[in-house]
Order: sequence, then C-alpha cells, then structure tokens
Amino acid sequence: MSQVSPPEGDLTAQSRAVLALAVRLAREAGEIQRSRYEGEHEIETKSAAIDLVTEVDTQCEALIVSGIRTERPDDAILAEEGGDHANQAAAWRWIIDPLDGTVNYAHGFPRFCVSIGVEYRGERQVGVVYDPLLDECFEAVRNAGAFLGQRRLEVSRTPKLAEALVATGFAYDVHRSDVDNVQNFGHMLKAARGLRRDGSAALDLCYVAAGRLDAYWEFKLHPWDVAAGILIVEEAGGVVTNSLAGPVPVSGDDILSTNGAIHAEVLAQLNQ
Ligand code: IPD
Ligand code: CA
Ligand code: CA
Repeated sequence: MSQVSPPEGDLTAQSRAVLALAVRLAREAGEIQRSRYEGEHEIETKSAAIDLVTEVDTQCEALIVSGIRTERPDDAILAEEGGDHANQAAAWRWIIDPLDGTVNYAHGFPRFCVSIGVEYRGERQVGVVYDPLLDECFEAVRNAGAFLGQRRLEVSRTPKLAEALVATGFAYDVHRSDVDNVQNFGHMLKAARGLRRDGSAALDLCYVAAGRLDAYWEFKLHPWDVAAGILIVEEAGGVVTNSLAGPVPVSGDDILSTNGAIHAEVLAQLNQ
C-alpha cells in the first residue's frame, strides 16, 4: 500500500522524534562499549581472519534494534550483525553499525563509535554517530545542519591538498585482493600534509564534517559504515561523491568526502 508523504512540518517533527530516539539508543549502546572497553572480549571472525565481531557488537545491536522495535515497530531496519527487520512498505529505514571500529575495540585502541543513519523514503534524513570515550555525539537532520553538542559543524577551509590532513581505510579482503587501495595510499602519502588510517569510517566522516580532517576516502564499505556520516558531512557543507566524482553508490562502497575546496585535487590523486 503506498503511503502519502506527510506535510513538511510533520516531516520535521517526525525527524526530530527519530533523532531523539537515535541519540538515546546510540548513547545507551555507547555506554555498553565504554563500560566493557577494558575487559576481555569474546572475539569471532566473519568474512576474513581480520574481520572481527565481539560480544559487544552483538549486544549493542540487540539493544538498538529492540529499542526501535519497541518505539517504532513499523520501521524497517538494516543492521550489520543481522538484526534486520525488512518491511518494504515502511517509510523510515534505520541503518545501524552497532560498533564501528571493531578491530580497534578488540585491541583496546580508543577509536570506535556507534553509527545510526535513518532514511525517509530512501533519502538520508537523520544521522547520529556517538563516540563513547570522548562523549562526542555527532548528529544531523537533512536541511537542518550538523551538530556536535550545541556546536554547528562546518568543514575546514583548507585550500589545497598539500596543507590537508587526510584519512582512508582498507577493506577486510586486503590480504587477498589486488583492489586494495594501497597504491592510492602511496600517492596520497606523498601529496597531503598528513595521512591517517584510524579504523572507524563513521568517525572519519564526522571528522571531515568537524574540520578535523580535510578529506577521507575508502572502498568496499557497507551501507551501515556511511549511512549517518554522509548526511553529517553534507550538512556541514562538505562534498561527498564516489572516487570518479559521481554519486556514492547505494552500497556506500566507494566514497570520497572532502571540504569541497580540495575535492578536485583528491580526485586527481585517486585517478592517476
Ligand atoms: C570498519 C571500519 C574501518 C574500515 C572498514 C570497516 P567495522 O567497520 O569502519 O575503519 O576501514 O572498511 O569495515 O567492521 O569496524 O564495523
Ligand atoms: Ca563499520
Ligand atoms: Ca561494525
């Protein structure tokens, strides 16, 4: 059954309610991560020996999915560890990475987060990324800006790549695939002021939004890695495309986000 779109005011009100729930659930999941951070973890592997999942990923996802099912039972859910709730007729779809930065988490490296993106009729509408160790909650609603607490986020004004701090990441098939991003890494290392591989795609995107990074690119990501972060970058005035300057694929697996000013220079580096 097709649904009629709500008037704009209603969508704003609904988005605020969705944002409030996403923030609450991200903070609750983040508290699990923070409290368990220094303990021993049950670690299993997924697609490769370096692709990990811990009991904390699973617990965080269960908490978030159960919170959504309780408050908004008709919404669709796509969640990394399989807690999906398919509903083709749903207007709202939650896309969840319960713990982005699992390898960091498993090693006690303090860079990980909860990422929750919510689409309205297939369009990114709400994004929340919560870093529990720094107690930083990045959030955005379409056309209403991106915020870190009370602070409105703006991308950097760094004018050229030679003055830029850039980040990237590598997929879990890096040990066995030739499409491994290593050549790009080499090129960028020689062109940018600094290059980082910090291990959390969602935080990398939020750091572009906050002006802490000037650019971030990666391949072979999944929808849950980028669902919140793309909206947060765009609402902070950044530019997000794929590595050929086209739209980011629905899968999210080819992404370049920058402050806009250095976008063309980064594209050139990725396409030599
Ligand atoms: C990973 C992280 C990492 C990125 C990988 C992702 P996960 O997500 O975001 O930074 O390089 O491509 O898969 O597995 O920790 O949720
Ligand atoms: Ca992830
Ligand atoms: Ca994850």
